[in-house]
Amino acid sequence: MATAKYPRKILVTSALPYANGSIHLGHLVEYIQTDIWVRFQKMQGHTVHYVCADDTHGTPIMLRAEKEGVTPEALIANVHQEHSADFSEFLVAFDHYYSTNAPENKELSQSIYNKLKAAGKIASKTIEQFYDPVKNMFLPDRFIKGECPKCHAKDQYGDSCEVCGATYNPTELINAYSAVSGATPIRKETEHYFFKLSECEGFLKEWTRSGTLQGEAANKMAEWFESGLNDWDISRDAPYFGFEIPDAPGKYFYVWLDAPIGYMASFKKLCSDTGLDFDEYWNKGSSTELYHFIGKDILYFHALFWPATLEYSGYRTPSKIFTHGFLTVNGEKMSKSRGTFITARSYLEHIKNPEYLRYYYAAKLNSTMEDIDLSLDDFVARVNSDLVGKFINIASRTAGFINKRFEGKLQPVADNKVVAQLKSSATIIAEAYEAREYGKALREIMHLADSANGYVASNAPWVMAKQEGQDVALQQTCSDALEMFRLLTLYLKPVLPKLAFEIEQFLNIAPLTWDSVDASLTNAHIINAYEHLITRIDPKLIEAMTEANKENLVATAQVAAPATAPVHVTNLAEAEYISMDDFSKVNLCIAKIVNAEHVEGAEKLLKLTLDIGEENTRQVFSGIKSAYDPVTLVGRLTLMVANLAPRKMKFGMSEGMVLAASDENGGPFILSPDVGAKLGMRVK
Ligand code: 2FM
Ligand code: ZN
Repeated sequence: MATAKYPRKILVTSALPYANGSIHLGHLVEYIQTDIWVRFQKMQGHTVHYVCADDTHGTPIMLRAEKEGVTPEALIANVHQEHSADFSEFLVAFDHYYSTNAPENKELSQSIYNKLKAAGKIASKTIEQFYDPVKNMFLPDRFIKGECPKCHAKDQYGDSCEVCGATYNPTELINAYSAVSGATPIRKETEHYFFKLSECEGFLKEWTRSGTLQGEAANKMAEWFESGLNDWDISRDAPYFGFEIPDAPGKYFYVWLDAPIGYMASFKKLCSDTGLDFDEYWNKGSSTELYHFIGKDILYFHALFWPATLEYSGYRTPSKIFTHGFLTVNGEKMSKSRGTFITARSYLEHIKNPEYLRYYYAAKLNSTMEDIDLSLDDFVARVNSDLVGKFINIASRTAGFINKRFEGKLQPVADNKVVAQLKSSATIIAEAYEAREYGKALREIMHLADSANGYVASNAPWVMAKQEGQDVALQQTCSDALEMFRLLTLYLKPVLPKLAFEIEQFLNIAPLTWDSVDASLTNAHIINAYEHLITRIDPKLIEAMTEANKENLVATAQVAAPATAPVHVTNLAEAEYISMDDFSKVNLCIAKIVNAEHVEGAEKLLKLTLDIGEENTRQVFSGIKSAYDPVTLVGRLTLMVANLAPRKMKFGMSEGMVLAASDENGGPFILSPDVGAKLGMRVK
């Protein structure tokens, strides 16, 4: 299989993660998907640059820094380190990982804005917006809450109601309040800058027609065209963490204006570090290719705003936008209470090997926008059966004979049908990778692994090894099997780069590229000693991981502030508010701790026995061991959720939850009722 005659020049990006949260398994779907594609293209001999950055600007990051008592710059520097470590440990190999808060991005954003202005695509307009008179800031829709004008549910966001699904303007909310200070917002006039997207419809229709989007995405675009394109508000008022707009003091670019320009800025920095030519990749008419991998939630920004921004500021537009679906875990949205909201770090701490997840995601990924499911039982079964049972098995059943009986020396590959079948599959596997049909590629590869195992089983080298006069046949069988193993390693290398590297060391060969399909392990080639390369996943590790994520929740449960004036919200961008109806479902009552003891083998838990009145007692495991000596708890009143579904934990049933508060500065502190409150009273 010959790779492309001319190397393609390709620039690839993944969406820029926000700098105010950790990377979780949902994010990783995209980075792993992109990384596999990039590694595959590099193995083909193409010139590929893969860039990304932290998305650092905007109100949520500014407010979070304020809450933590640090500057936004310090906050994003910390998160940059955390994100970089997570990506590198998941083997996501960016050529450059930058920040949108960088000089290159400021310069590019301001110059693109000036070009759009010169092209007549910027308008300014005075608009009225909600303003927080306590915080002295304009409030984004997400930071205004109030009663839904349709169904009257309390505490709904400024743009839509989570109870009845209605959408509206924040001005329509009843009794609106600021989610930042709790104050009643006032209406205030301000001048904003708009990108005239409504004038770009002709260009965008043409761009969509030129095959830049998947079918489902193009349909979505058609819907948007149907309902008409509105001009895009690209400015925000101070205080705002971002870049100031030229000649407009106190006005800043909206984060979504400079975020995609961050793709260019990250590449620009790579160019100045390595001598690459920025213009070759970004000038109009460029013959290089530009691909953006994104999730379906940000299609609007990438398929409308971004190409229009590039077109009217004189740059090339993307060759294609590759959009993927969301991740579900065990068939449901990731959930903190089920322990399935798992960060990259938590996965690494428990499961350790990132390639298991890379393999599983690859097995599930295709080129559509459908959601993919991480079924944790299936994850264990699939990795154990495919990677250990089928793939590694080929080497573990044959390499030992070569090492022990033939001093590591191989025979040249004989006229072997299975080797020929493996070699002739290179094109179909390459086509599947190219088309982002990784599930199809892996099915094909595992089908070939089945053939290779069939070959080993039918020749049974372990039987030959016990027979007289079978040395030549034994050496031939094992050499052929290791050639099969080499080819399978090559095909799996975009997905499993670390394991492939270890196998290259063991086989004593140069790094595999797609051209290596045409080579073979040669006569008298000497391999290194075989050492066990990969182990089965123990299902207990999965249990421990989900359990640990549940335990975290127990230790950090917080009491909601009064519905009308939330004074403390842990993370506004992600906060999920509940309605009064939801709250009334919680049986929150006063309980007396009648016994408290350590739990053997549990790092964080204490076992509590709680009296909740009327001769009812409950056993609860609570993650408060780090803060309390059990004897000091006995006799205390506290608050507990009495109707939480009993959960089977490693150490027994937990029949409720004791409320405790904590953050990175301290805790957990269990909550106590005021003097006079009695055992069994319900919180209302
Ligand atoms: O949705 C998000 O997570 C954004 N931070 C993605 C930005 S991608 C790009 F356009 F910058
Ligand atoms: Zn409603």
